[in-house]
Formats: sequence, C-alpha cells, structure tokens
Amino acid sequence: MSDSEKKYPGGVVPKLEMTWRDWLPWVVFGGSLVATSLLGMLIVSIMERRWESKQPYLVVKPVAEWEFRNKVWGDNYPREYETFRKTATKGTRTKFGGSYLRDYLNDDPRQVILFAGYGFSKDFKQARGHMYAVKDIKETGRTTKPNGQDTGMPATCWTCKSPQVPVLMNQMGIAGFYNGKWKDLKDKIHEPIGCLDCHDPKTMNLRISRPALREAFARQGRDIDKASHQEMRSLVCAQCHVEYYFGNNPGPRTDGQTFGAKGKYLVFPWDEGFSAESFEKYYGKRPSFYDWKHPISGTRMIKMQHPDWEVYRTGIHAFRGVSCADCHMPYRTEGGVKFTNHHIQSPLLDIASSCGVCHRYGEQSIKSRVYAMQTKHFKLRLEAEDALVHAHFDVAACMEAGATEAELRPLRDLLWRAQMRWDYVSANNGMGFHSPQECVRVLGMAINGAQRVRIMATRLLARRGYTRPVRYPDISDRKKAFAIASAFVAARRSSAMKPPSLLAGPPQPAPSPAPALAPASPPAPASAPSPTMAPVPATAPPARASQRPPAATEAQAPPRAQGAPAPAMARAPRPTPRPARPAPRP
Ligand code: HEC
Ligand code: HEC
Ligand code: HEC
Ligand code: HEC
Repeated sequence: MSDSEKKYPGGVVPKLEMTWRDWLPWVVFGGSLVATSLLGMLIVSIMERRWESKQPYLVVKPVAEWEFRNKVWGDNYPREYETFRKTATKGTRTKFGGSYLRDYLNDDPRQVILFAGYGFSKDFKQARGHMYAVKDIKETGRTTKPNGQDTGMPATCWTCKSPQVPVLMNQMGIAGFYNGKWKDLKDKIHEPIGCLDCHDPKTMNLRISRPALREAFARQGRDIDKASHQEMRSLVCAQCHVEYYFGNNPGPRTDGQTFGAKGKYLVFPWDEGFSAESFEKYYGKRPSFYDWKHPISGTRMIKMQHPDWEVYRTGIHAFRGVSCADCHMPYRTEGGVKFTNHHIQSPLLDIASSCGVCHRYGEQSIKSRVYAMQTKHFKLRLEAEDALVHAHFDVAACMEAGATEAELRPLRDLLWRAQMRWDYVSANNGMGFHSPQECVRVLGMAINGAQRVRIMATRLLARRGYTRPVRYPDISDRKKAFAIASAFVAARRSSAMKPPSLLAGPPQPAPSPAPALAPASPPAPASAPSPTMAPVPATAPPARASQRPPAATEAQAPPRAQGAPAPAMARAPRPTPRPARPAPRP
C-alpha cells in the first residue's frame, strides 16, 4: 500500500501531476478550435480577395480618358506610382544588365564595325529604367548630333517613349503621327513611359495602347482583345519590346486612317512568324527595304531592334505560362496590401520576389545559375561577332580585288542573313536568359553563315590570284575601329578617296603545274563525317573570344573545311556546285 492510500483510506487518490493522456482531449479540442478559426480566416481572406478583384479601385480623383500625367494617376494609386517612380534608380549593375548607361561600343569595338555607317556605330548604350525613356532619346547621338542639330529622324521614333503618344495619335491620327518629324514633337513630349501606356483609366484593366501591336495581330487573323489576362501581362510589354521597322502601312486601314507617308509607318514584321527565319523571310520579300548599306562590304543591312517578346516566347518560362510581369513586376505586400511592384528592372536585383516565389533555392545559387547561362551565351555571341567582322573585311577585299557585283551578290546575301541572325540574339535583352537554347541555335547559324561567306570570299580572291591572307585592320579599341569604319564610309562616298587596303601585295602568279604529289591519303568518301563536326583538337587554345584581338588573321580563325556540307540556311544560295568529293589534301 502506498503512502497516499494510507492518507485517504477508501477514497480516490487525487493526481497531483497530469499525464499527457489527461491533456489529450483538451489538446484535440483546442487544436480544432484553432484550425476552425484559421479556416474561417482563410475563407474570409479568399472572399475578400475575390471581392477586391471585382471591386473597382477606390478612386480619389477620377482619371480622365486621355490623362497622360503619371502624377495624376498616382494620386489614386500611390503604391503603384511610388514603385513606378523607382525606375529612375540609376547605377544598379548586374554582370550583364542593370540600370546604367553601359557603353556597348567601349566594351566591344567589334560592334563599331558591324554597325559601320549606321547610328549604332556612334552611340549604343544599354537601356535603363522607363523614367529615362524621354531623356535618353533626346540625348542619344542617333537623334541628335553633337552640335545639337537633329539627325532627321521621323516622329515614329517617339512611339515607345511616352504615354503622350496615344494622346497625340488620337489628335493627329495614327498615320498623321508617324508622318511627322522627330524634332517637331521634341518640345511637346516630356512624360516618360507610364500608366496610360498599359492601363485603361476607367477600369484599370491592362490595355493595348499602341496600334502596331494590334495591327500585327490583326494581320495574323488574331484578335488581341481576346488575349487572356496572363497573356496581357506580357503583351503590354510587347507594345515596345519587340522587333519593328519603319515601313509602309501594310493595312488593312484602321479607324478610317490613311496609309500615310511611305517608310514612316511603324510595323512589326510578324506576318511569317516570330523566329529569326521568319523575319528573314519577311524582309527577304521586301528587298527594297533595308536600314543602311554597310560601307565595308557594300551589303544592305537590316538592324534588328529588341525582339524581347519574340525570343521570350520560345523559352521554358513562356512555355509554362510565366509572364514578363511575373519576373519584372512581382507582387509586393505593404501594410497588409498586396500590389504589383511597378519598379520594372533587372529581376536579379530582387531575386527573392522575382524568382523565389517559384524557385525554392537560395538567392546566391539562382544568381550564379543565371550568370553561368549568360556567360556562355556572351562568349558564343563574341564568336559570332568575330566571324562577321572578318566576313565584312573579306568581302571588302574581294571588292578591292575587282570582283563584280554579280560575283559579290551571293556573298552579300549570305552576310545579310548571318548578321541579322546575330543581331536577333544580340539586340534581344537579358543576355540569352529568356531563351538560352533558341539563342544558341540562332547564333550557331550566324557563325556558320559568316564563315561560309569567308570561304566564298577566299575562293573568289584565289581565282584572281590573291592567295595571301587578307590584312585585317586593327580594331582592338573603339577609336581604332571607328577610324577604320569612317575611312570606308568616306571612300564609298567619294571615288577620290581610297578605302584602307586589305590585300597583301599584288596578285600572285598562277602556280606552275602542281608538282606530282602522291596523294598522302585516299580521298575521303563523300559520306565521311564532316570535319566541321570534329571536336576541337586538345591543343587549340580555349575559346576566349573576349580576349582575342578582333584583328585575328586568317590563320588564327577556326579551321573550316571547304568541302563540308554546310547545313543550309534558309534559302541560302549555293554559289558553286559542290564537288562530289573533297579534293585530296597534300
Ligand atoms: C523567368 C523570368 C523572366 C521573364 C518571364 C522575363 N524576364 Fe526579362 N529578364 C529576366 C532576367 C533574369 C534578366 C537578366 C537581368 C540581368 O542580366 O541583370 C532579364 C532581362 C531583361 C531585360 C534587360 C534588363 C537589364 O537590366 O539588362 C529586359 C528589357 C527584359 N528582361 C524584358 C523582358 C520582357 C519584355 C519580358 C516578356 C516578354 C521578359 N523580360 C520576361 C527574367 C525574366
Ligand atoms: C511604351 C513602351 C514600353 C513599354 C510598354 C514597356 N517598355 Fe520597357 N522599356 C522601354 C524603353 C524605351 C526602355 C529604355 C529606356 C531608356 O533606356 O531610356 C525600356 C527599358 C526596360 C527595361 C530596362 C530597365 C533597367 O533598369 O535595366 C526593362 C527591364 C523593361 N523595359 C521591361 C519592361 C517590361 C517587363 C514591360 C511590360 C510590363 C515593359 N518594359 C513595357 C519601353 C517600353
Ligand atoms: C508597362 C506597363 C505598365 C505601366 C507603365 C503601368 N502599369 Fe500598372 N500594372 C501593370 C501590370 C502588368 C499589372 C498587373 C495587372 C494584373 O495582373 O491584373 C498592373 C497593375 C496595376 C494596378 C492593379 C493593382 C496592383 O497593384 O496589382 C494598378 C492600380 C496599377 N497597375 C496602377 C498603375 C499606375 C498608377 C501606373 C502609372 C504610374 C501604372 N500602373 C503603370 C502594368 C503597367
Ligand atoms: C511563376 C513562376 C516562375 C517564376 C517567377 C520564375 N520561374 Fe523559373 N521556371 C519556372 C518553371 C515552371 C520552370 C520550368 C521548370 C520545369 O518545367 O521543370 C522554370 C525554369 C527555370 C530554369 C531552368 C531553365 C532551363 O532551361 O533549364 C531556370 C534557370 C529558371 N527557371 C530561373 C528563373 C529565374 C532566374 C527567375 C527569376 C528572374 C525565375 N526563374 C522566375 C517558373 C518560374
């Protein structure tokens, strides 16, 4: 008998300590109480959100139909306005992006040559936040000469810079707006990209304000007003972040507008599709349209703008329904209110909100993954630039050697295609991130195209007795590159000037009949694996294009096999019939 039983004879022993068994009912009871109230709160929250999403916003001052002043909208939507104003932040940097005026030409003088004779060879800087759109276009050398004179651009240039554009288009008519001169609107336009560009002031729904996007959809037989809400979260960006050109209004006429002046109408070249090949096909059907004639190779060129939306469409995120806004305008919560962050910028500056909601791994690893993708992309892009720069000089060498226009045509045609492909990738923002595989595919075709031009040029030169390597000029910094580009511009303008000579000495006499050489090895069968596919020999230096001076000589260029069946670019000309079997190598 225990002590307690002694003290309470016959009675129930009161327990001084309760065991977990005694607590259990209370725990269950309390737990279900908490769960029920949480569930209740969740339901209320869902109902509230639903209600919120159906509720028109609490409007302090109604916004007029054509109100372009962001500040006035901001009185009603202070959170969106305050974050929107942060696009004026400058000096942010990521490895390849950020909001500062990175000078592409200082960093990469190859582009001075690739854009020789065109505005982009004089001034080409990285884009920054939307708040700078008006300031930057007023200051760039592409619209304004150093002496303050304007370069004669059409008003069309304003189209993607300001919410005043839809207002002016409403007043002047769409074609009327495009017909004007850039300088005529210079004093009128001051408000940078803003609310009216993307929103309907009455409902705050996303809205397409730019006719070019609407018209491009209509020509494809699609109605943009039927786009889903999630698609609209990318399409508002596609009003500006796309490839475009100033051409003739392809119709059909909209809103009783006239067709407008030739060559000034803003058009998205999407009639054949959105890929680099589709653009080539589109522009190929309009041979009279070109942006400029390249002074070094005499090729008529197309400048790709920034096909951000087109490239994005081919990537994994678009495939999985992730929109531009998901990464560039993530949700934020402030004082319990959830809203869209309007500080559009590089998502790498806010990885937790931009990527972290879907990718549950550390910020550092997300960033290093993106940098790894971008760095590979960047290196391949430089390879393409090297090949293209050399191709332009090779064609110039052929011109110097007296090649005829007919002989040069296939070379220029291929060079046009190859540079357009490189530019499709290069001009697209994000350094390959938006669609790494598509970018690599297109760059691969650009490199192949440029090297084929070089093979054709080498043959052409050899036929005229020039067998020594072409003397490529030194373009290792921006100044040197610009001096070379300018020398060619001057020479093509006036026959009194001579372009820099690229041929090393006079033609060689035709070689005497080849000494009887026993073939070292039997000719390879035509089906032999293409030598272009052979792995790079281990002795080859690693491809560090960024450090290789662009003025590499032929001997330094990657080896290419002449007889190799080059995967044809679409509609690429085959200038000379390919011999059935490659010539025996000595
Ligand atoms: C999955 C996320 C994601 C989506 C979706 C996305 N982007 Fe990006 N975007 C990025 C990342 C990451 C970068 C690289 C930023 C850097 O290098 O600092 C980038 C870069 C950019 C840049 C250059 C910014 C800079 O600072 O260099 C622009 C412009 C851009 N994107 C526009 C768009 C547009 C327009 C869309 C939709 C058509 C889009 N992006 C869709 C993640 C995304
Ligand atoms: C009305 C035209 C227009 C619309 C609409 C537009 N952009 Fe832009 N965007 C521009 C222009 C122009 C610039 C370059 C501004 C400059 O450098 O002065 C730019 C720059 C950017 C940058 C670079 C900013 C930085 O800090 O590096 C990003 C990112 C960007 N836009 C993303 C987007 C996204 C995402 C959308 C859609 C939600 C969008 N833009 C909608 C015209 C537009
Ligand atoms: C480049 C396009 C763009 C511009 C410019 C823009 N917005 Fe938005 N805005 C969006 C997108 C995208 C959303 C998300 C809409 C959605 O998913 O329904 C949004 C959402 C909103 C919402 C809904 C609430 C929220 O935060 O999600 C408000 C209000 C709003 N914006 C106000 C403004 C104001 C005010 C301005 C001008 C200062 C502005 N927006 C400029 C694209 C833009
Ligand atoms: C709304 C969700 C969402 C957001 C936001 C998002 N992603 Fe993704 N991401 C996805 C999905 C879905 C996939 C595809 C994964 C799959 O299908 O397995 C993906 C794939 C990827 C991949 C693999 C791509 C490939 O080709 O292998 C990378 C890298 C990536 N995301 C990086 C980012 C970065 C960086 C950001 C922020 C700038 C970001 N994502 C933002 C949903 C998102």
